[in-house]
Amino acid sequence: MSIAPPRQPRFVQLHREDRAAVRQELAAGLLAPAARTSAKYLYDPLGSRLFDAITELPEYYPTRTEAALLHRHGPAIARRLPKGATLVDLGAGNCEKAARLFGLLQPARYVAVDISVEYLHTALECLQRQYPVLDMLGVGLDFSSSLELPPEVGEGTRVLFYPGSSIGNFTPEEALPFLRQARAAAQGGGLLIGVDLVKPRAVLEPAYDDALGVTAAFNKNLLLHLNRLLGSDFAVHDWQHVAFYNESASRIEMHLQAARTLSVRWPGAERRFERGERIHTEISCKYQLGDFQSLLAAAGFTQIDAWTDERGWFAMYWAQA
Ligand code: AVJ
Repeated sequence: MSIAPPRQPRFVQLHREDRAAVRQELAAGLLAPAARTSAKYLYDPLGSRLFDAITELPEYYPTRTEAALLHRHGPAIARRLPKGATLVDLGAGNCEKAARLFGLLQPARYVAVDISVEYLHTALECLQRQYPVLDMLGVGLDFSSSLELPPEVGEGTRVLFYPGSSIGNFTPEEALPFLRQARAAAQGGGLLIGVDLVKPRAVLEPAYDDALGVTAAFNKNLLLHLNRLLGSDFAVHDWQHVAFYNESASRIEMHLQAARTLSVRWPGAERRFERGERIHTEISCKYQLGDFQSLLAAAGFTQIDAWTDERGWFAMYWAQA
């Protein structure tokens, strides 16, 4: 008799963004009259750790509200979802949230998708030891630009999992084509998505401007990342963290504000910032329960279910493709 060798996760890395294209995109954003950067640049290795720290802050309610909601409504949610599906985790990171669903969903395969496959190696190898018979695949893909999954993901019905209200980084206008792509990628399954809801400013603003200053550090760390990517000379001390709820746009906005008039230089260009001038670094859109349901319907999903926590702060939607 022979013993089968232990299963190993497989990995695929899809197109890597080239350095020149990144520099060009960053320079264009910084030279625009209203300077801006894409939220994805907040997540270098330190930025990802600072975000993990944010999720532990007393003011940052989304992560623990979503976890409680999934715990409480997990069995009801699982009853609506297909069993034995391929669970596709969008923005998997440490794979922790999806792993908590394995028992309920009984997936046949787990596919962890994140911008770089390197982040997924340790997490998936550790998870494979805990779930030795589950088929696992890590995919390195920047799905914010295109959600085309590689053939390695397989033919089975897919449950796309997009938790944490990461969809909030898109405007509703940008979210719609993303949701359409998600519907197409689900292959007859659907999308399980966590969405942060509109609530009083007094709750929203401290979540993005905490007393310890962790969110401020997360925002300012972008400047160190830009210095490495672009070769710029941002001095962290010259910049202040600004976060507020823009009620008419129903979103939190994060900015970095120049504390004095200054110039930033990088190879080939220079930008002057007046004192008080800002770089827009992130949006985090908040939805009314029915408005996000309408967005899912507009994206072509047929049956939509929603669950919320007792306070109505956060919602989990199951949208059938
Ligand atoms: C990861 C996009 C869901 O918008 O709440 C947290 C990012 N930014 N604090 C959010 C974030 C500042 C977070 N998302």
